[in-house]
Amino acid sequence: MKTSSMLRSLTNFLVKLLASSAVAPLPATTSFGHQLTSQLNTIQSQTDSQNANGLLHALVDAATTTQQITLNSLSDFTTTTCQPSDRKIIDDYLDFNVKMLDTCNQLTEKIDTIRNYEESLKVVSRLLESGQPHPTTLARAKHLLDSCHNATETKRPFKRFFSQKLAQSSSSDSKLAEILGGSKAVTSLVCEILGTALSFKSKRGLRPLLQQTRSVSSSTYWSCSLQQLQKQIREHQKSGSSMMLTELHQTVKAAHYLRNQIKGRNTTSDDLEELKRRCEELEKEIKPFEEKVKEMYKHLISVRMALLGILSSQF
Ligand SMILES: *[C@@H]1O[C@H](CO)[C@@H](O)[C@H](O)[C@H]1NC(C)=O
Ligand SMILES: *[C@@H]1O[C@H](CO)[C@@H](O)[C@H](O)[C@H]1NC(C)=O
Repeated sequence: MKTSSMLRSLTNFLVKLLASSAVAPLPATTSFGHQLTSQLNTIQSQTDSQNANGLLHALVDAATTTQQITLNSLSDFTTTTCQPSDRKIIDDYLDFNVKMLDTCNQLTEKIDTIRNYEESLKVVSRLLESGQPHPTTLARAKHLLDSCHNATETKRPFKRFFSQKLAQSSSSDSKLAEILGGSKAVTSLVCEILGTALSFKSKRGLRPLLQQTRSVSSSTYWSCSLQQLQKQIREHQKSGSSMMLTELHQTVKAAHYLRNQIKGRNTTSDDLEELKRRCEELEKEIKPFEEKVKEMYKHLISVRMALLGILSSQF
């Protein structure tokens, strides 16, 4: 499946990205780098046995685990390990952290929208259950289907933060820069993938992430790898593969079909069954994401608190 291959190449990329930090001349290999690489390797080793959603779950879990690894690594920072330049790195990260908290809220809103959508469709299938619905019941079902259709057409801008700036912020050779840079890259990439999966309109896939820049020659491992990712993503965009959550895609299709059948006064019980089944699958699939986003949020807050602690004790 195309979605699955998209995620696979992203995972491959992440593993390469972090593996490259082990051989890069820049920072000494940190325990942070090792841990991050190993968790991404685990995801990659499961890639073939998992469907696209399984990988999506694994990536979201990885983002949360990354916060945990970040937090553990930060606890090593004592008064002797922070350099004066680290202050800016921390400030930059804190700025990023606020944006990611905001992104988590946006993801929660997306999940709520999908749940409302799915609830409305369940009402539709109940209204039409009798086979010969009363005209007012039929009208109500039609109206609900129309508003569901409208919901899928509504654009909800989703801010994205995976950018050139992230690559630049890790060009410093301090240990802290490596930790926070890695943390940023994984978190923002995963949020972007999840945001796309939970969007009604994600035919276009991920947008190009980076612009070619002069800084390439000074190539930190981050910027090199980011360029590589951009290339992969462009390739996928050309192939037109969708990153939308499979169950969401299937539900939208079933609702669309039913809407047309009603218009043609040709609704069958099979169409209703299909919609009901898709809704149930979607409900089951979407639920765990709600918890996972909450988890990620909590962990981002913990990292934030730890950094504020370092700032107040060292600067
Ligand atoms: C759906 O959108 C169309 C076009 O914007 C509008 O005319 C219609 O009233 C909307 N229907 C519902 C049920 O929201
Ligand atoms: C009604 O739907 C059935 C099954 O979907 C299809 O085979 C048939 O051609 C449709 N009839 C009309 C009048 O659209």
